[in-house]
Amino acid sequence: MSRSLLTRILGRLVYDPCVRAGRLPSNGVPLRVFRALSYCRTPRIGPRHPLHDLLAASEWKSRFSISDGSLLWLWAHLKRHRPARILEMGSGISTLAFSFYASSYKSAASERSCVVSLEHDEKWVATTDKRLQEMNTRQFVTLLHCALGPVPVGGIEQSSYSVDCGRISELFGGKGPDLVLIDGPPGDVGRLATLPSILPLLTQRTEVFLDDAYRPGEQAIIARWQNTMSACLRYCGTFPLGNGLAYFVYHPKIRNGAPRT
Ligand SMILES: C[S@@+](CC[C@H](N)C(=O)[O-])C[C@H]1O[C@@H](n2cnc3c(N)ncnc32)[C@H](O)[C@@H]1O
Repeated sequence: MSRSLLTRILGRLVYDPCVRAGRLPSNGVPLRVFRALSYCRTPRIGPRHPLHDLLAASEWKSRFSISDGSLLWLWAHLKRHRPARILEMGSGISTLAFSFYASSYKSAASERSCVVSLEHDEKWVATTDKRLQEMNTRQFVTLLHCALGPVPVGGIEQSSYSVDCGRISELFGGKGPDLVLIDGPPGDVGRLATLPSILPLLTQRTEVFLDDAYRPGEQAIIARWQNTMSACLRYCGTFPLGNGLAYFVYHPKIRNGAPRT
């Protein structure tokens, strides 16, 4: 049996909760997802880990926060893949972690890392702003207040961030994000329109993560995105971290002809 077939089968069994529950199989789990499991083996952190103090400080965390496991996995992923441009929907402890990453980011071309965080709640923008200042990493993040408004998806209006793609593209120097974390708006608002609203920004390098993927609402969103965006988006599977961290890759060459870079 070929290695890729074996990892695809094992990946499906191990990673995809839908498969484990005997429901719809994902589009197939590629080797990269299987390989990425190695990061899951690092949930314990010692005092010298850069996120140790952040995760140990309970005042930074709440029931809204991304799980420690997901954050540590993302940290390992950042360190390994070195994305320069990060777009986050829903700010909080993840924004603080991204700011740490950006503060230590160095590229061969002396490029700086740029983190853009969209947040619908003005008060929460102010809270995150204050925390970033306290941590001395405010300059590495652009916090954008993005009010919730009607965003059409498949002819139906959904409440979501009123995203200004032009502004975000400008902040990223005309380039697209390398990594997107969708962790907002809150579950009672829903996240169906989040990814469709940023599609014009994505490039063939963009990886997309959707947190809280085990929730029924997010399961329905994954199924819907698979149905409606299969031509440009591939659902790779869900990592069994926290509330589930779903992983997508973008294939722009199928959309509008020429690939974006
Ligand atoms: C799932 S949370 C986002 C979590 C964020 N990515 C993090 O890792 O902390 C979704 C929304 O909940 C709100 N939120 C986040 N942390 C909060 C807290 N500690 N208390 C109240 N609201 C919070 C913010 O409006 C945020 O956009």
